[in-house]
Amino acid sequence: MGVFPLGVLGCCLLFLPVLTLPSDPTLNDDVLGLIVFKADLRDPEDRLGSWNEDDDSPCGWVGVKCDPRTKRVAELALDGFSLSGRIGRGLLRLQSLQTLSLSRNNFSGGFSPELSRLASLRVVDLSENDLSGQIPEGFFAQCRSLRSVSLAGNRLSGEIPPSIGACSTLAALNLSSNQLMGALPSGMWLLNGLRSLDISFNNLSGEVPAGIDKLYNLRTITFRGTSCRGASLRTLEAWHC
Ligand SMILES: *[C@@H]1O[C@H](CO)[C@@H](O)[C@H](O)[C@H]1NC(C)=O
Ligand SMILES: *[C@@H]1O[C@H](CO)[C@@H](O)[C@H](O)[C@H]1NC(C)=O
Ligand SMILES: *[C@@H]1O[C@H](CO)[C@@H](O)[C@H](O)[C@H]1NC(C)=O
Repeated sequence: MGVFPLGVLGCCLLFLPVLTLPSDPTLNDDVLGLIVFKADLRDPEDRLGSWNEDDDSPCGWVGVKCDPRTKRVAELALDGFSLSGRIGRGLLRLQSLQTLSLSRNNFSGGFSPELSRLASLRVVDLSENDLSGQIPEGFFAQCRSLRSVSLAGNRLSGEIPPSIGACSTLAALNLSSNQLMGALPSGMWLLNGLRSLDISFNNLSGEVPAGIDKLYNLRTITFRGTSCRGASLRTLEAWHC
């Protein structure tokens, strides 16, 4: 007879902690992350002047777009803002970030391989900056949802990391106009969803290797400054252009 009430009590005790959690414990992580990111930058034109650490929400800041439902930062677009300095780790706090677009600035140094671990990140455009060093191996190895990556127009050197084959969500990859060398890693031919690949204006060696014919979705490949397109690209011959 005592079993039933005890069962009800057990149920309620179990759910009580869940109900009393703060509704949005991470709200200010976005403000903090962006302020930390800004602290690593030089902003000679004061384009980020509206970014105020005392604000409750960053959703009205220049270059910032939030998800209207969650009010979390979904997009950061600071293209052509004349920013320089490092792409700092503050960005790693933006747990709902989907689009990161920092092209046409003067960012230098490298970038954190952990960026690609942001669970919602789909588009990364760091093109036309002054980034240097190797593409971090971990960037592609840990990628969660990346669909489009452009690192074009920087000074990145070394080889394309073999781990790229692990980033199976990639649809577009632009590595043009860097100082990349060596052969294309064979893992690239595991990227079944790849539709566009631009590796022009680097110092890559060798011919387009066997295996490219497995990329059934690939529609555009650009290398040696030449763009090759075709409807049926399953044969290697199609790429001799
Ligand atoms: C880019 O930054 C470097 C220093 O890191 C500086 O020497 C150069 O003048 C900057 N270029 C532009 C276009 O701002
Ligand atoms: C790759 O990026 C460069 C520099 O931003 C751009 O000019 C080029 O059109 C891009 N390639 C593709 C295939 O989109
Ligand atoms: C490009 O590769 C060639 C042959 O491997 C090498 O001799 C040359 O120094 C490289 N150029 C640059 C800018 O790395």
